[in-house]
Amino acid sequence: MSKISVLRETKIDAHYFNMYASLMTTGNGYLGIRASFEEDYPEQTRGMFVAGIYNKAQEQVSSDLVNLPDVTKFWIEIDGVIFSMFSGQVSEFRRELDLATGELSRELVWKHPNGKQFGLCFKRFVSKKKLHMVYSKVAVTCLSDDATVRIRTGIDGQQTNFGTQHLVEDSLRVFSETWMQGEYTTTQSKQRIAVTSMVSQPGSFVAKNRQLHVTVNQELPKEQPFSVEKVSVIATSLEAENPAEFGLLQIREAKSYDEALIESQNAWEKFWRDYRVTVSSKNDFDQLALDFAAYHLEVMTPSHDERFSVGAKGLTGEGYKGHVFWDTEIFIAPFHLYNHPEKARKLLRYRYLHLEQARDKAAKNGYQGALFPWESAFSGEEETPEFAAINVRTGKRQKVASAIAEHHIVADVAHAVVSYYEASQDELFMENEGLKILQDTARFWLSRAVLRDGKYVILDVIGPDEYTEHVDNNAYTNYLAHENVYQTLRFMSKYGQKHTAFYDLCEAFLRKIYLPQPNADKLIPQDDTFLSKPEIDLAVYKEKQGSQAILLDYSRAEVNEMQILKQADVVMLLYLMPNLFSQDIVSHNLDYYEQHTIHDSSLSKAIHAIVANRVGQQDLAYRFFEEACRIDLEATSGGTDEGVHAASLGAIWLSTVFGFGGIAIMDGELHLNPRLPAEWERLDFSFVWHGERLEITLEQEHIAIRKQSTAPISIHVFGKEYCMTAGLEI
Ligand code: BGC
Repeated sequence: MSKISVLRETKIDAHYFNMYASLMTTGNGYLGIRASFEEDYPEQTRGMFVAGIYNKAQEQVSSDLVNLPDVTKFWIEIDGVIFSMFSGQVSEFRRELDLATGELSRELVWKHPNGKQFGLCFKRFVSKKKLHMVYSKVAVTCLSDDATVRIRTGIDGQQTNFGTQHLVEDSLRVFSETWMQGEYTTTQSKQRIAVTSMVSQPGSFVAKNRQLHVTVNQELPKEQPFSVEKVSVIATSLEAENPAEFGLLQIREAKSYDEALIESQNAWEKFWRDYRVTVSSKNDFDQLALDFAAYHLEVMTPSHDERFSVGAKGLTGEGYKGHVFWDTEIFIAPFHLYNHPEKARKLLRYRYLHLEQARDKAAKNGYQGALFPWESAFSGEEETPEFAAINVRTGKRQKVASAIAEHHIVADVAHAVVSYYEASQDELFMENEGLKILQDTARFWLSRAVLRDGKYVILDVIGPDEYTEHVDNNAYTNYLAHENVYQTLRFMSKYGQKHTAFYDLCEAFLRKIYLPQPNADKLIPQDDTFLSKPEIDLAVYKEKQGSQAILLDYSRAEVNEMQILKQADVVMLLYLMPNLFSQDIVSHNLDYYEQHTIHDSSLSKAIHAIVANRVGQQDLAYRFFEEACRIDLEATSGGTDEGVHAASLGAIWLSTVFGFGGIAIMDGELHLNPRLPAEWERLDFSFVWHGERLEITLEQEHIAIRKQSTAPISIHVFGKEYCMTAGLEI
């Protein structure tokens, strides 16, 4: 197996401090810490987030994933000068995140303004073994002379979310010459947070202005490194009755940096053994992108708890306020589902546990059943902000319509429930929880659709393409609603719930729901009016994709009246339902809609890659794939500053396994139609299906599937069905 990739930052450029702070986030699903430098720079935004800790600053605004007190900051004063990479001179600089171990390290050689040379080394990791623990280490060596150093670090409660302070400081305490603790409560959600830190060297403490610090002074004889280790325990009332006590108990068990790293590394090793996708590609970048995606998908997922889900930026930044979208079910959950299904189940449980809030939302909007919020947080209530950014010329704010019309999320959740069942065959979940979600979501569609000229139509929605609002019969929505109701019937009959009035209503819905068909030009209309709208040349906007540059030239209302897509919509449907249309139709629609798509959403490119690959356009697919991989890794225009694009990382995995790897699930059956791009010699991944881990190796002319047991598993390879007992080679 090739070595797991290392992500590197090679030059000091403040333009990219926040991009790297997001990319190099360390975390473990419980918490995430942005990779800001230890010393302060005005350009960088620090961030530490615990999954599930949200707060509303004011009643009328939506919840933020709270940016918690910082433990990563170290002030280093050498011979009376405060260390900064922009004072003195840096002659060597290397910063890397080792994706294999989750350790972030930086080494540099720094020339003091007084001419002395220093070596500085900073390391940190968030333990994958002990979810609450953060370890860091700073070492300073004077390479050319003797010197004095002063190191200050502690707990900094001045953190905010874009300026909004969410925490009340309850207490600051020092317990010995090396232990300190800060306790906080969120202002509205009343979550308690305790941050407990211990440093390896005794020093003097100061508590002031929401900060608690210890300062250590040291003489530095030439070439003798001086290091300070720090371990912090982050605990909250989500998991501990008394977070402060919990923190003190855990800090007692803290190990040395190196010992704890080995422990954490072992946990990472386990992860990589199961989840890693390897590729022999002409472009080394591809493996980096795959490792990067897998790493982040793991650190963003709160697999320890089912009360919350994955935010659109994971735990890497304040973007999208940490809210949960359809991104989880459609883009992120599959990565877990086909590796560790129980983790996908937990993500579904988040929806199940919030059915009540979804029912409330439906009722408030005049519907039956469950209407999941477009954006949600801890409470499971609708959290979509009412307004988007302000137009500073008019002073007006644009209303965000997603909460009232982007209803496809209901069917997306149902789709994920069925996918989970098909992969895992988990009858217990399906009969007790899954079916409830299916019934409530189906009930929603029954009340949402209206009968017009003998057909059920779904009016005034937003499909996945958010540049087209308030339209009738969005194809994606109608087809997924149909699937939602169809699957509900399937499982109601399976579990003996056939003879009910609701069952009959579902049958009537299925008979009459309007499903847009390809027109004379073989195009599936995105909605009732889309294809009759004017077109404009999108070349200039496509060049600036991801930046929403079109909204600088046109108002949203104007964009709405043209054939302009923000992201995959019909193409999204073609991806999710591979056997709906012929290859010819898929091909036509891919070409047409892609021409009209700016890809301003990061959820778009990788999905296009999958569909392009299915219709034999491997070169195009590979181009889309590479572009999708660059969304975060080369986000030079600031797009990743507020956090990585969680769904897009899930989509990179999907485009590899479901795209080039050729996996498709059709009618509950597993299919494999691999088509590797010319640049790839070999692709290896594992895929858990019906309780068994299949190890799949694909080469241009060869397929091998290894199994652990001899239990038969059926698979269709290039359309031919095989019943595998010992594995398969073709
Ligand atoms: C996209 C949505 C997505 C959201 C969060 C938006 O820009 O249009 O589809 O759910 O970002 O990632």
